[in-house]
Amino acid sequence: MTVTESLTVRDNRTGTEYDVPIIDGTIRAADIGKIKAADDAPGLAVYDPGFVNTASCRSSVTFIDGDKGILEYRGYPIEQLAESSNFLEVAYLLVHGELPSREEFETWVHEITYHTFVHENIKGFMEGFRYDAHPMGMLMASIGAMSTFYPDARNIAEADNRHLQVVRLIAKMPTLGAWSFRHAQGKPYVYPDNDLSYTANFLSMLFKMSEPKYVADERIVKALDTLFILHADHEQNASANAVRSVGSTQVDPYSSVAAGIGALYGPLHGGANEAVLRMLKRIGSVDNIPAFIEGVKNGNERLMGFGHRVYKNYDPRAKIIKKACDDVFEVTGVNPLLRVAQELEKIALEDEYFVSRRLYPNVDFYSGLIYEALQFPPEMFTVLFAIGRTPGWLAQWLELTQDKEQKIARPKQIYTGDRGLTFVPAEQRWA
Ligand code: SDX
Repeated sequence: MTVTESLTVRDNRTGTEYDVPIIDGTIRAADIGKIKAADDAPGLAVYDPGFVNTASCRSSVTFIDGDKGILEYRGYPIEQLAESSNFLEVAYLLVHGELPSREEFETWVHEITYHTFVHENIKGFMEGFRYDAHPMGMLMASIGAMSTFYPDARNIAEADNRHLQVVRLIAKMPTLGAWSFRHAQGKPYVYPDNDLSYTANFLSMLFKMSEPKYVADERIVKALDTLFILHADHEQNASANAVRSVGSTQVDPYSSVAAGIGALYGPLHGGANEAVLRMLKRIGSVDNIPAFIEGVKNGNERLMGFGHRVYKNYDPRAKIIKKACDDVFEVTGVNPLLRVAQELEKIALEDEYFVSRRLYPNVDFYSGLIYEALQFPPEMFTVLFAIGRTPGWLAQWLELTQDKEQKIARPKQIYTGDRGLTFVPAEQRWA
């Protein structure tokens, strides 16, 4: 790596100047650590809550340009993949780094199709949840539990073993997601139907009742498959960071992905799609939008589905989802909340509060409207996000396991507590 650019940093405490190389638009924290007030003093560290301006890794999985609203998986624009590819092909692309040949794709589809079943004990385990358990809690627990069914998954140094676990996780996520949904509805679990495509099989496990074969409307299958593509990866988002942080301890991928599900569950991340729908229902009609917007500007709440750490322009996925709404509503009928969402977006995009903070609709703003139209309850929305994101999490995890620069994630802190106190035993303290 030839370094041509650098910073010259002068430490005014000592008058010493340091040459800090600029590498790929970053400076290394280790170079900042060389700046000391005295030889025996600790070096400087970088303080960055929420990693707002910190690169944690080198990655070739996903590229985002937040100002231009660009999103590419392995260099392919999301618009082209959403239009012309399918979710399992995109999953292959993310995991393997290139598009599959016909033979590679057929093998991939076969492997995943024949790993959709889960151990019967997991069914028993899931039946232990309360009737009203949130499906994300069930999914996180079940994926974590899967590490106990596949102890060989700990052998993360073996490429074939990594591949087998990646296939199992992509294949079984829809089964566990569907069973979480059926559990909450008090309906019998539906086993995978290996005659069906990945997404059609998911719909069958969700909605099949007494009919011999569940046949989903092809437009619904296509719309859901496209939504999975749009959610498949998004570089170092909070849940990918969780997968990498937990994975950096060299634990198995089930435990790492369970951590990612936990991060995605939060309303500031993947849980936002559920929060958006609850927000739209609470607003109820376009007449109530001005009062709601005032509440947001007064800091009483957030406009869920708006804003993004990286996109300071329209999230390209939101544009595509907004278009997918039309295809789904052609089958299901228009979701009456669409009008509220469209008016809310229009007002927000003209309002100085949102414009000055560069807040635009993100991937979660419209997706919930489609999910509700597909008869999903709001608590299932983030499960759908997790199914789509699984190949991305695993692509990030695989990259981590092969990255010689990576080590266990263990940040520093700025200590603000007491020092050197003397402990007084309880009987004396309470006397
Ligand atoms: C996802 O990272 C990813 O890539 C995530 C994701 C992925 O694919 O993995 O894209 C998926 O998580 C999308 C985001 C879904 N979350 C939401 O829609 C929840 C609402 N949005 C936010 O809470 C917020 O915008 C975040 C969490 C998405 C981003 O937060 P940041 O980057 O930490 O920004 P911030 O909270 O510091 O906000 C900057 C300013 C603040 O105002 P001031 O304190 O400067 O006055 O903007 C305001 C915030 O109050 N703000 C909002 C707002 N989002 C930010 N005000 C009202 N409504 C909002 N939605």
